[in-house]
This record gives sequence, C-alpha cells and structure tokens, in this order.
Amino acid sequence: MKIGIDAIAFSTSKYVLKLSTLAEKRGVDYAKYCVGIGQTEMSVFPPNEDIVTIAIDAAEKALSAIENKNEIDMVIFATESSFDLSKSAGIYVRHFLGLSDNCRIFDLKQACYSVTAALQLAKAYITCNPNSKVLVIGSDIVKYSKNTSGEPTQGGAAVAIVVSKDPRIAEFEPYSGVYSTEIMDFWRPTYATEALFDGKLSAHNYLKSLDICFERYLTSSKLSEQDIDYACFHAPFCKMARKASKQLFSDKNIDNSLIYNELIGNSCSASLYICLISLLDNTKENMDGKRVGMFSYGSGSVAEYFSLTVSKGYDKMLTAKANREMLSNRTEISFEEYELFRNNQALPGKIYENVGKVTMTGIVNDKREYSVKRI
Ligand code: CAA
Repeated sequence: MKIGIDAIAFSTSKYVLKLSTLAEKRGVDYAKYCVGIGQTEMSVFPPNEDIVTIAIDAAEKALSAIENKNEIDMVIFATESSFDLSKSAGIYVRHFLGLSDNCRIFDLKQACYSVTAALQLAKAYITCNPNSKVLVIGSDIVKYSKNTSGEPTQGGAAVAIVVSKDPRIAEFEPYSGVYSTEIMDFWRPTYATEALFDGKLSAHNYLKSLDICFERYLTSSKLSEQDIDYACFHAPFCKMARKASKQLFSDKNIDNSLIYNELIGNSCSASLYICLISLLDNTKENMDGKRVGMFSYGSGSVAEYFSLTVSKGYDKMLTAKANREMLSNRTEISFEEYELFRNNQALPGKIYENVGKVTMTGIVNDKREYSVKRI
C-alpha cells in the first residue's frame, strides 16, 4: 500500500520584520544576516496570534483538498512552543475545524524533529487502518533573547499535512537513517519563554548527525548519493541548510527549497516541510516520480534522513500563487512593535489582523480563550 502526503499547506503571521531593520538597531552589518546567515526577513506574531491560530489556518487550507474530513480520526500536533503542559493544542484545532469527535488527539515534542516523528506514527497508523486519514500539524513560534546570536534566526509558522493511502503529493519510502544523542545544544526549560542554546555546538551536532544519518540511510536503502534527485534540509536559518547540502552533495542546488524559509525565519517543527512546499512550488521541471531526500534535525538531539517519491499529478495539488502572496502581503512592522510583540504586547489602540478565522482573545482565569472572527 502506498502511504504518504495527500495534502500539505502552511501558514504564518501577517506581520514581518525586515532583518535590515534589526541589523541597524543592533549595530550589526546587514551582510552578516543576509549573506552570513542567509535570512532577509522574519515573521513576527502579535499577541492575538499563537501556535493554535496559525495551525488552524494551515489545517483549514490543507483540508480544503480533502473530500471527506470525517475520515480524519487522528490529529497529531507537533510543537516545542506549547503553552500548556497537559492539554493538547490539537484539541482546539479539531474543534474549530469541525472535525469528527471520533478522533484521537495528542501533542508530540522533540524540538524541530517532532513532525518527522509524527509522520512515522501516522504511516504506521494508516498501515493498520487503511481507510483512516491522519492530520499532522507542526506549529512553532521561535523566540530567543534580545541581542543574542539567535535573535536574527527567530520566526514562526505552522504546517499541516494530511497523511493517507494513495497520496496525491508524495509517498514515503521505507528507508531511514536515524541518530540520537544526549546533548545540550538548544533547549527551553518549562519556566522559560525564550529558547536557550549553544549555537556553535548545535550547528556542529546538526552536521555530525547529518553524516551519520545519511550513511545509515544509504546502507538501509542500498541507494547511492546520485539516486537523490532533490534535497530538503531542516533550516533553522538558510545558511545551515546550504552547509548541510554542501557536506552531502557536490552539485545539488537547494535554492528552490529555501525561498519561503528565507522570509519566514526558523519555524522549528514546520521548517523542513516548508522547505518541501517551497521546493514543489518553485521547481519548474516536472517532479513526477522524483526522489526527495529529507533531513530532519531536532536539538537535544534526534535526527533522521529519509526520502519521499513525488506522486504523479502532484502539481494539481499545489497552491504556489497563494503561498507567495501570503508572504509578500505581510505588513512590515516597526522596531518598536517588534519589541512589544516580544513581550506579547502591541501598540495601544492598533488592531492586528489574524491570519485565519480564529483569534486568541486572552487568558481568563488561567484559561486560554479563542473566538471565530466576525467576517
Ligand atoms: N558579512 C558576511 N558574512 C558575515 C559577516 C559579514 N559582515 N559577519 C559574519 N559573517 C558570517 C560568518 O563568517 C559566518 O559564516 P560561516 O558560518 O560560513 O563561517 C556566519 O556569518 C555566522 O557568523 P558567526 O559564526 O559569527 O555567527 P554567530 O556567532 O552570530 O552565530 C549561529 C551564528 C550560531 C548560527 C546563531 O545564529 C545561533 O546560535 N542560532 C541559534 C541556534 C541555531 O539555529 N542552531 C542551528 C543548529 S540547531 C537546529 O537546527 C535546531 C533549531 O532549529 C534551533
């Protein structure tokens, strides 16, 4: 049975900070950000937007391609930006999208690796329940402290992926190379709102994990480097993915996979799958039947190299124009607003639009409240 990605979509904030503005305010040469790190913009989130509201928007878009939403009987919400240690963020998504209540829902966490883990679970679940569909969501908003080397690599987005049999976008291949190790390269204690990290150690461990995973992938698949037609790499910042590609392949151009991430910044769990959407949307050649190598890395750490083959007719499932417009239509915010957003505040009296139909209205009696926007 073929199992894989039947629909995929992403969503991000309606607001953006240009990294040229950040560079000026932080007294850094902008070339360090746009050349050295490979980022030009980052999505920034007003207080009424969170990992749930952007996830609902991404999921709504992905589900618009699905005829019978009631076939979804599992929602896996992958995140490292959770605001609740008990309740799954996926419960809000099921509720606001009106999916069947005959549905298993849970969160999954392992830094930026968690969507990949969720896809593995979904694949096993569909193998046992061929008529089911699983909605996998990765949603993260990434915050580092001010004036740190991580600050220009913040960002955020949600990706929603429908996994099913006979997938219309890409089929999972059965091969994988996995590597895990205990390392303090990036973490966020439960009491912290911003991630802590050892940047150089994290970049070193990412590249070390890549080598080990790729070798294990080649051994398990009996494929060679030349059998990979296209490649996507987890992109905490685009230069990291470029270094990864250079380490594995002498001649592969991964520009098309990084177009969206360069503008969004790090979206952690969603990042690798936004690379995949960007690759599919922006590759001019027909990709029917082509193999895409995927490298997933989650600090701490767990990493996996695996591959997909693109389904025939995948291009009918793409929404490239809408994706490009979503990014180019974002409103640029001032540095003052950026500093306010960092603390979940906004300019008094100014209304900030949500990306989708649901808005986070506040926290009352320690309960997070959401409402559907009036149109
Ligand atoms: N013009 C052009 N390039 C410049 C420049 C200038 N004026 N100044 C510096 N550069 C270049 C440097 O030469 C360097 O290039 P190379 O990497 O090719 O050598 C690059 O810009 C970065 O410069 P530094 O090494 O001085 O950068 P830094 O100390 O500010 O830190 C970083 C960079 C470690 C990646 C930092 O952004 C960071 O800590 N980020 C957060 C952690 C992270 O993203 N880690 C990635 C792996 S972990 C992971 O993948 C999980 C996850 O999502 C977080």
